[in-house]
Amino acid sequence: MADMQELKRQAAKAALERVEDGMRLGIGTGSTAEAFIRLLAERVEGGLGIVGVTTSERSEALCRELGIPTATLEAVPQLDLTVDGADELDARLRLIKGGGGALLREKIVAAASDRMLVIADASKRVETLGDFPLPIEINGFGLIATFLAIQKASRAMGLAPDMTLRRVGEEPFITDSGHLILDASFGRIEEPEALSAALHSVPGVVEHGLFLGLATEAILASQDGISILRA
Ligand code: A5P
Repeated sequence: MADMQELKRQAAKAALERVEDGMRLGIGTGSTAEAFIRLLAERVEGGLGIVGVTTSERSEALCRELGIPTATLEAVPQLDLTVDGADELDARLRLIKGGGGALLREKIVAAASDRMLVIADASKRVETLGDFPLPIEINGFGLIATFLAIQKASRAMGLAPDMTLRRVGEEPFITDSGHLILDASFGRIEEPEALSAALHSVPGVVEHGLFLGLATEAILASQDGISILRA
Protein backbone atom coordinates (compact mmCIF):
# COMPACT_ATOMS: atom_id res chain seq x y z
CA MET A 1 0.00 0.00 0.00
CA ALA A 2 1.40 3.39 -1.05
CA ASP A 3 1.99 5.89 1.76
CA MET A 4 1.02 9.54 1.49
CA GLN A 5 4.42 10.64 0.19
CA GLU A 6 4.30 7.97 -2.52
CA LEU A 7 0.82 9.16 -3.58
CA LYS A 8 2.15 12.70 -3.88
CA ARG A 9 5.01 11.37 -5.99
CA GLN A 10 2.60 9.51 -8.26
CA ALA A 11 0.55 12.68 -8.85
CA ALA A 12 3.77 14.59 -9.53
CA LYS A 13 4.93 11.92 -11.98
CA ALA A 14 1.66 12.11 -13.92
CA ALA A 15 2.01 15.90 -14.06
CA LEU A 16 5.37 15.55 -15.81
CA GLU A 17 3.53 14.13 -18.82
CA ARG A 18 2.02 17.63 -19.30
CA VAL A 19 5.45 19.29 -19.41
CA GLU A 20 6.85 19.90 -22.88
CA ASP A 21 10.18 21.05 -24.21
CA GLY A 22 10.46 24.84 -24.33
CA MET A 23 7.79 25.48 -21.71
CA ARG A 24 7.75 28.42 -19.33
CA LEU A 25 6.76 26.65 -16.17
CA GLY A 26 5.38 27.98 -12.88
CA ILE A 27 6.73 25.84 -10.06
CA GLY A 28 4.74 25.50 -6.85
CA THR A 29 5.56 25.12 -3.18
CA GLY A 30 4.96 22.37 -0.63
CA SER A 31 5.74 18.68 -0.30
CA THR A 32 3.85 17.64 -3.46
CA ALA A 33 5.47 20.41 -5.49
CA GLU A 34 8.83 19.28 -4.12
CA ALA A 35 8.19 15.76 -5.38
CA PHE A 36 7.45 17.33 -8.76
CA ILE A 37 10.65 19.42 -8.68
CA ARG A 38 12.75 16.31 -7.97
CA LEU A 39 11.22 14.40 -10.90
CA LEU A 40 11.49 17.44 -13.14
CA ALA A 41 15.19 17.71 -12.34
CA GLU A 42 15.72 14.18 -13.67
CA ARG A 43 14.03 15.15 -16.94
CA VAL A 44 16.08 18.35 -17.19
CA GLU A 45 19.23 16.34 -16.66
CA GLY A 46 18.07 14.11 -19.51
CA GLY A 47 17.82 17.12 -21.86
CA LEU A 48 14.35 18.66 -21.31
CA GLY A 49 14.56 22.42 -21.91
CA ILE A 50 12.27 24.47 -19.69
CA VAL A 51 12.54 27.65 -17.68
CA GLY A 52 10.95 27.65 -14.24
CA VAL A 53 9.45 30.53 -12.29
CA THR A 54 9.24 29.50 -8.65
CA THR A 55 6.63 30.49 -6.07
CA SER A 56 8.86 30.60 -2.99
CA GLU A 57 12.44 30.99 -1.85
CA ARG A 58 12.23 27.35 -0.73
CA SER A 59 11.33 26.02 -4.19
CA GLU A 60 13.86 28.37 -5.80
CA ALA A 61 16.64 26.96 -3.61
CA LEU A 62 15.65 23.38 -4.43
CA CYS A 63 15.52 24.08 -8.19
CA ARG A 64 18.97 25.67 -8.06
CA GLU A 65 20.37 22.78 -6.05
CA LEU A 66 19.00 20.29 -8.59
CA GLY A 67 20.09 22.24 -11.69
CA ILE A 68 16.65 23.37 -12.94
CA PRO A 69 16.99 26.69 -14.82
CA THR A 70 14.87 29.44 -13.26
CA ALA A 71 14.00 33.03 -14.05
CA THR A 72 12.10 35.74 -12.22
CA LEU A 73 8.51 36.53 -13.11
CA GLU A 74 9.77 39.98 -14.13
CA ALA A 75 11.98 38.34 -16.77
CA VAL A 76 9.34 35.79 -17.85
CA PRO A 77 5.95 37.37 -17.10
CA GLN A 78 3.77 34.94 -19.06
CA LEU A 79 3.84 31.23 -18.35
CA ASP A 80 2.48 28.20 -20.18
CA LEU A 81 1.73 25.99 -17.21
CA THR A 82 1.96 26.12 -13.42
CA VAL A 83 2.15 22.91 -11.40
CA ASP A 84 1.35 23.27 -7.71
CA GLY A 85 -0.18 21.44 -4.75
CA ALA A 86 -3.28 22.39 -2.76
CA ASP A 87 -4.58 22.04 0.77
CA GLU A 88 -8.17 21.46 -0.38
CA LEU A 89 -10.01 21.37 -3.68
CA ASP A 90 -13.65 20.97 -4.57
CA ALA A 91 -15.41 19.54 -7.65
CA ARG A 92 -15.25 22.94 -9.40
CA LEU A 93 -11.49 23.11 -8.87
CA ARG A 94 -11.79 25.87 -6.31
CA LEU A 95 -8.83 25.61 -3.95
CA ILE A 96 -7.54 26.49 -0.54
CA LYS A 97 -3.79 27.04 -0.65
CA GLY A 98 -1.19 28.59 1.59
CA GLY A 99 -0.54 25.86 4.15
CA GLY A 100 3.13 26.37 3.30
CA GLY A 101 2.81 30.14 3.49
CA ALA A 102 3.52 30.83 -0.18
CA LEU A 103 -0.01 31.75 -1.28
CA LEU A 104 0.72 35.27 -2.54
CA ARG A 105 3.44 34.29 -4.99
CA GLU A 106 1.56 31.10 -5.84
CA LYS A 107 -1.50 33.10 -6.83
CA ILE A 108 0.47 35.67 -8.83
CA VAL A 109 2.30 32.91 -10.70
CA ALA A 110 -0.87 30.88 -11.32
CA ALA A 111 -2.65 33.98 -12.63
CA ALA A 112 0.26 34.60 -15.02
CA SER A 113 -0.09 31.07 -16.46
CA ASP A 114 -2.24 29.83 -19.31
CA ARG A 115 -3.01 26.71 -17.28
CA MET A 116 -2.73 25.68 -13.64
CA LEU A 117 -2.36 22.00 -12.88
CA VAL A 118 -3.00 20.93 -9.28
CA ILE A 119 -1.28 17.82 -7.99
CA ALA A 120 -2.38 16.19 -4.74
CA ASP A 121 -3.20 13.00 -2.96
CA ALA A 122 -6.92 12.34 -3.22
CA SER A 123 -7.59 13.19 0.45
CA LYS A 124 -7.38 16.88 -0.52
CA ARG A 125 -10.62 16.58 -2.50
CA VAL A 126 -13.56 17.86 -0.42
CA GLU A 127 -17.26 18.50 -0.96
CA THR A 128 -17.16 21.93 0.66
CA LEU A 129 -14.04 24.04 1.24
CA GLY A 130 -13.22 25.24 4.72
CA ASP A 131 -12.20 22.36 6.90
CA PHE A 132 -8.60 23.43 6.31
CA PRO A 133 -8.01 26.84 7.95
CA LEU A 134 -7.91 29.54 5.28
CA PRO A 135 -4.54 31.32 5.23
CA ILE A 136 -4.95 35.09 4.96
CA GLU A 137 -1.78 37.08 4.23
CA ILE A 138 -1.88 40.48 5.92
CA ASN A 139 0.34 43.51 6.23
CA GLY A 140 2.03 43.80 9.63
CA PHE A 141 0.85 47.40 10.03
CA GLY A 142 -2.33 47.56 12.08
CA LEU A 143 -2.49 43.84 12.71
CA ILE A 144 -5.25 44.08 15.35
CA ALA A 145 -7.31 46.50 13.27
CA THR A 146 -7.07 44.15 10.29
CA PHE A 147 -7.99 41.17 12.48
CA LEU A 148 -11.11 43.02 13.69
CA ALA A 149 -12.03 44.14 10.17
CA ILE A 150 -11.82 40.54 8.91
CA GLN A 151 -14.06 39.43 11.78
CA LYS A 152 -16.56 42.15 10.89
CA ALA A 153 -16.54 41.31 7.18
CA SER A 154 -17.01 37.62 8.04
CA ARG A 155 -19.85 38.34 10.47
CA ALA A 156 -21.65 40.28 7.75
CA MET A 157 -21.69 36.98 5.82
CA GLY A 158 -22.90 35.00 8.84
CA LEU A 159 -19.45 33.52 9.44
CA ALA A 160 -17.47 33.52 12.67
CA PRO A 161 -14.00 32.14 12.00
CA ASP A 162 -11.49 31.26 14.70
CA MET A 163 -8.35 33.11 13.66
CA THR A 164 -4.81 32.60 14.83
CA LEU A 165 -1.62 34.35 13.87
CA ARG A 166 0.71 31.80 12.31
CA ARG A 167 3.90 31.37 14.31
CA VAL A 168 7.18 29.54 14.05
CA GLY A 169 7.92 28.69 17.67
CA GLU A 170 7.36 31.93 19.58
CA GLU A 171 7.86 34.23 16.59
CA PRO A 172 5.31 35.25 13.96
CA PHE A 173 5.75 33.46 10.63
CA ILE A 174 6.95 35.93 8.00
CA THR A 175 6.19 35.26 4.34
CA ASP A 176 8.71 35.59 1.51
CA SER A 177 7.17 39.01 0.83
CA GLY A 178 7.52 40.13 4.46
CA HIS A 179 3.90 39.77 5.57
CA LEU A 180 2.08 37.88 8.34
CA ILE A 181 -0.47 35.08 8.02
CA LEU A 182 -3.75 34.62 9.86
CA ASP A 183 -5.12 31.09 9.70
CA ALA A 184 -8.91 31.39 9.72
CA SER A 185 -11.02 28.32 10.51
CA PHE A 186 -14.36 28.78 8.80
CA GLY A 187 -15.53 25.17 9.02
CA ARG A 188 -17.58 25.38 5.83
CA ILE A 189 -17.19 28.00 3.13
CA GLU A 190 -20.46 27.75 1.21
CA GLU A 191 -19.78 30.83 -0.92
CA PRO A 192 -16.06 31.09 -1.66
CA GLU A 193 -16.51 33.88 -4.24
CA ALA A 194 -18.42 36.08 -1.77
CA LEU A 195 -15.90 35.39 0.99
CA SER A 196 -13.04 36.21 -1.39
CA ALA A 197 -14.62 39.57 -2.23
CA ALA A 198 -15.31 40.30 1.45
CA LEU A 199 -11.69 39.59 2.42
CA HIS A 200 -10.36 41.70 -0.44
CA SER A 201 -12.47 44.60 0.84
CA VAL A 202 -10.33 44.75 4.02
CA PRO A 203 -7.40 47.13 3.37
CA GLY A 204 -4.78 45.24 5.44
CA VAL A 205 -5.44 41.98 3.61
CA VAL A 206 -2.73 41.43 1.01
CA GLU A 207 -4.15 38.13 -0.35
CA HIS A 208 -5.94 35.02 0.80
CA GLY A 209 -5.67 31.34 0.01
CA LEU A 210 -8.91 30.89 -1.94
CA PHE A 211 -7.87 30.17 -5.53
CA LEU A 212 -10.99 30.63 -7.64
CA GLY A 213 -11.12 30.24 -11.40
CA LEU A 214 -7.38 29.59 -11.60
CA ALA A 215 -6.94 25.80 -11.66
CA THR A 216 -7.71 24.19 -15.00
CA GLU A 217 -6.93 20.57 -14.13
CA ALA A 218 -6.15 18.43 -11.08
CA ILE A 219 -4.31 15.13 -10.86
CA LEU A 220 -5.29 13.21 -7.74
CA ALA A 221 -3.52 10.07 -6.61
CA SER A 222 -5.17 7.47 -4.39
CA GLN A 223 -4.66 3.79 -3.62
CA ASP A 224 -6.94 3.07 -6.61
CA GLY A 225 -4.76 5.03 -9.03
CA ILE A 226 -4.81 8.43 -10.70
CA SER A 227 -7.96 10.45 -11.31
CA ILE A 228 -8.27 13.65 -13.29
CA LEU A 229 -10.55 16.62 -12.63
CA ARG A 230 -11.02 19.36 -15.20
CA ALA A 231 -12.57 22.81 -14.77
C1 A5P B 1 2.07 26.30 -0.08
O1 A5P B 1 1.89 27.62 0.35
C2 A5P B 1 0.76 25.64 -0.27
O2 A5P B 1 -0.16 26.34 -1.02
C3 A5P B 1 0.90 24.22 -0.76
O3 A5P B 1 0.77 24.11 -2.13
C4 A5P B 1 -0.16 23.42 -0.11
O4 A5P B 1 -0.06 23.73 1.27
C5 A5P B 1 -0.02 21.93 -0.36
O5 A5P B 1 1.10 21.46 0.31
P1 A5P B 1 1.48 19.93 0.32
O6 A5P B 1 1.79 19.55 -1.06
O7 A5P B 1 2.70 19.88 1.23
O8 A5P B 1 0.32 19.20 0.90
